[in-house]
Amino acid sequence: MLDERRRRYLQAMGITLWAPRHPLPGMADAPTPVAPAPPAGEAVLPTASAGDERNAAIARMDWQQLRAAVAACTACPLHRSRTRPVFGVGDTEAALMIIGEAPGAEEDRQGEPFVGRAGKLLDAMLKALGLERRQVFIANILKSRPPNNRDPLPEEVEACWPFLARQIALVQPRLILAVGRIAAQRLLRTEVPVGRLRGRVHRLPDHDIPLVVTYHPAYLLRNPRDKGKAWEDLQLAWHTWRERQPS
Ligand code: URA
Repeated sequence: MLDERRRRYLQAMGITLWAPRHPLPGMADAPTPVAPAPPAGEAVLPTASAGDERNAAIARMDWQQLRAAVAACTACPLHRSRTRPVFGVGDTEAALMIIGEAPGAEEDRQGEPFVGRAGKLLDAMLKALGLERRQVFIANILKSRPPNNRDPLPEEVEACWPFLARQIALVQPRLILAVGRIAAQRLLRTEVPVGRLRGRVHRLPDHDIPLVVTYHPAYLLRNPRDKGKAWEDLQLAWHTWRERQPS
């Protein structure tokens, strides 16, 4: 049975009817499905260009150095058109890390991820899990806004990747929630569509960090019928995360 608070937030997400595929927190444990290796033929993209001096230096940075490096970065042309870099926000020791695509107009203005309309929905999704945004760490694949909210270019993603890789290494989350195609595909190094990545627990390549994929809140605003599926993904994420809580 849902408690009142969760019901309220589900309403805020626009979800009225749903059928849990996985137990809610507090319900009996059930085994978490783990994704099989990608079938032959599904492209696994090559790893990022690790190893050069810049990336190695970033991989040694502490939070303060990393924040300064992001602010000073000129590795791609987006630094010229952005208003502010959007570093990431939240608890630097969070158990849950949420990774989106790139700053939009409002994020570019405020310097904080997910503060526009999509961010409000993300907040509601978090609250449905009983979480405030300050309890998680939220970051994006890109730290600078692409003009007119176009998709990030592959070279922009690769230029920015070492920053996110370092953020993940510093936070050491127990679970990553990848929201949307750009985040899911870059993190998992695949070209498989989100609809086929969601609904199971992946592992971040080269790490032992479970990763759950869900739809981007901006997509959900355009396609509210898929909010029920997003709620299923959140339950899967929550259940996986709970399994990894130290006892
Ligand atoms: N969409 C994203 O993916 N990230 C943001 O920070 C805002 C919108």
